[in-house]
Amino acid sequence: MSLGDIDKAVRLIKDSSKTMVLTGAGISTESGIPDFRSPNTGLWENVDPMEVLSRDVLNRDPERFYKKGFNILLDMTHAEPNKAHLALAEMEKLGYINGIITQNIDNLHYKAGSKYILEVHGNTREGYCTSCGKVVDLNVLIEKVNNEEIPPICDSCSGILRPNVVLFGDMLPEEFNIAVREVETSDLLIVIGSSLMVAPVNYLPQFAKKLIIINKGPTAMDGIADVRIEGKAGDTLDIILEKLIED
Ligand code: APR
Repeated sequence: MSLGDIDKAVRLIKDSSKTMVLTGAGISTESGIPDFRSPNTGLWENVDPMEVLSRDVLNRDPERFYKKGFNILLDMTHAEPNKAHLALAEMEKLGYINGIITQNIDNLHYKAGSKYILEVHGNTREGYCTSCGKVVDLNVLIEKVNNEEIPPICDSCSGILRPNVVLFGDMLPEEFNIAVREVETSDLLIVIGSSLMVAPVNYLPQFAKKLIIINKGPTAMDGIADVRIEGKAGDTLDIILEKLIED
């Protein structure tokens, strides 16, 4: 992480009249949640996502989904925001960023106090009925599953409940279409802690007028970044926020 790059990033943020942020699992590793693709530590190093967290498994083998995949989701709900999440909430409050597009389902931007959050892969706060569409608190699903009601059944229409998380094979929610429009109408996009390996979210940087990427390790879009900062999200955002405030 060079100070020159930090200064360039601070300049781009100050000169921008509308800035969106795109976050991935890398922003939450400092909260104790492993990311997906880091060598040796990433979740998908030891688990095949298609076998435990796909739409097909949810429908074809709910026992496997709720005994394996569902626990991976629940493990993400116990963490607390770290200084990277808190710095973004502060930058929004100060008007330096306009909103966050997140691939994360860990609710940490919410817990950090950010206001405008587009959760393009869903969240681990809710579930919904696949028949009547009723939205329920995730705890309703947890209780039913703990009582061996698998799949969990909707109390209103007896349809099947499922977590409001985008599983492999699912379509992305309307939040993604809104995210595309937000990036297209922004001056700057800041990507933090994502390998940018997963479509269609990894298309978003291509719609950006100016692009900053902050990541530990390479991303699939490094080649189009105006500023590429190699470093940890927490430390980097702390320094950027400090410089934004001091100037
Ligand atoms: N600071 C900065 N970068 C970090 C940090 C950190 N503290 N910790 C890890 N990273 C980097 C990793 O090196 C990696 O390049 O963050 C990136 C995380 O990439 P992935 O694990 O691929 O996660 P993400 O890009 O969010 O995955 C996208 O894939 O599995 C699906 O639905 C899931 O939303 C997820 C999507």
